[in-house]
Amino acid sequence: MKHLLSIDDLSTDEILQLFETAADMHDVQSREVKKLPALRGRTVVNMFFEDSTRTRSSFEIAGKWLSADVINVSAKGSSTSKGESLRDTVLTVCAMGVDGLVIRHPASGAAVQVSQWVDAAVVNAGDGMHEHPTQALLDAYTLQRHLGSLEGRHVAIIGDLTHSRVFRSNVQCLTRLGARVTVVAPPTLMPSGIGAWSAAAGFETSYDIDAVLPEADAVMMLRVQRERMNAAFFPTEREYSRRYGLDGDRMARMPEHAIVMHPGPMVRGMEITAEVADSERCTVVEQVANGVSIRMAVLYLLLGGNEPAVTHARTTEEK
Ligand code: CP
Repeated sequence: MKHLLSIDDLSTDEILQLFETAADMHDVQSREVKKLPALRGRTVVNMFFEDSTRTRSSFEIAGKWLSADVINVSAKGSSTSKGESLRDTVLTVCAMGVDGLVIRHPASGAAVQVSQWVDAAVVNAGDGMHEHPTQALLDAYTLQRHLGSLEGRHVAIIGDLTHSRVFRSNVQCLTRLGARVTVVAPPTLMPSGIGAWSAAAGFETSYDIDAVLPEADAVMMLRVQRERMNAAFFPTEREYSRRYGLDGDRMARMPEHAIVMHPGPMVRGMEITAEVADSERCTVVEQVANGVSIRMAVLYLLLGGNEPAVTHARTTEEK
């Protein structure tokens, strides 16, 4: 694997290998000294042309815990604000000897385009409405830690599907791992052409959240992405919340073992109430912690050597 641009870049075996590596990395989080020497001498640049809290900071922490040199570049404060093109900015940064480039960009397809310009390994940290592969990997990893094998497990993905790269990556990842996936949205936020796509990819669609919740093993709520909307997709926030939000009453109708997920950022009172977000069934904080493990695994498998990262670290520490 040279780049991680889409879930489609990964075979099922590679996804499972990433989960195994992430499990090794997970142990590092509970150590007093959170440092492995696996990527010593490697340089990773995080280029974020769109706002982020979770993804940017977890890639930075992941790189640093693997001993890589990590540099952050954001649109604000870079020469793109003076009119420099994306290509010129990327080529400029990569001319400084970069091994890995983590990129978030508002344009769908930006990460693929960048990967064609540079020699560095490129990781897509979210490109427009297209994909967010490391989010899908950390979501599936979190699901697996709660439910075991995902074969036959039912995952409902609910909310603004039209504007969601998280949904597009998750559908691919979860169906690949054998899960049954149902996506739920109001008709106005259901992507056009989803009928043919769902039939080909083997997932289900629904407009009825209340019919889906009682048979879900996990429910993934998605944010309404107002910043990508150029029209009114629903009458009022109150109406959206009433029809498609997850509140305590709806959560009570889910099977007892079922978990509530959210990729963040959450808009409390819109797609999820505070009661649900703060409940023990909600894994949003755990997903963030798992994101560091998954991103360590991704960086290690793209930039690391052939030796297992953790064994390698112990051997080096012992020297
Ligand atoms: N889930 C996610 O991508 O969050 P950020 O936008 O904060 O990175």
